[in-house]
Amino acid sequence: MKQVFQKKKIAIFASGAGSNAKKIIEYFNSKLTAKNKIEVALVVSNNADAGVLKIAKRNNISVLLIEKEKFFSHNSYINELKNADMDLIVLAGFLWKIPANLIKAFPEKIINIHPALLPHFGGKGMYGNRVHQAVLASGEKESGITIHVVDELYDHGKIIFQISCPVFPDDTQGTLAERIHKLEHKHYAKVIEDYLIDNN
Ligand code: GRF
Repeated sequence: MKQVFQKKKIAIFASGAGSNAKKIIEYFNSKLTAKNKIEVALVVSNNADAGVLKIAKRNNISVLLIEKEKFFSHNSYINELKNADMDLIVLAGFLWKIPANLIKAFPEKIINIHPALLPHFGGKGMYGNRVHQAVLASGEKESGITIHVVDELYDHGKIIFQISCPVFPDDTQGTLAERIHKLEHKHYAKVIEDYLIDNN
């Protein structure tokens, strides 16, 4: 018998502008039917000024502003996330390392997007434009995006999805970042949807 797909709730963790969060919210808003029951139910941020909070408010999505001390204590907001019935945590430009106890509480249920082709150009301190700078400095002819499960090491867990794009000789950090952002916006939401369906 075909398994019934239960309703799933996503929490997006983001520290900044939130353009990926916006695309993910729009994607699932446009598909929230009786058949497709995936909902972005919570936006979590460590930054009270993050653009992502405005995006959440505009979309009537609950917001949880987290504090460093509590996040890195034994609690890690696990109770809040469990009580709100979150099925998947999606990192979209979230700059704090995910603590081990949160990973244990959501095994294989935390995913991240990285703006390069892991296992290269990842690790501690490799985020945002630093990644694009490193790619350009290396002379690589390709970059891309990686969506992976989060484990206890930076940018290290099982890879779910990768897609590449060219790096042109006249690229700047800005032009490469724009090309990568477009890829992220095109693919992240669909990969999340497939991951939830495959791991139902
Ligand atoms: C993205 O490039 C993502 O790969 C990285 O952080 C950036 C977030 O951008 N992890 P935005 O806030 O979604 O615009």
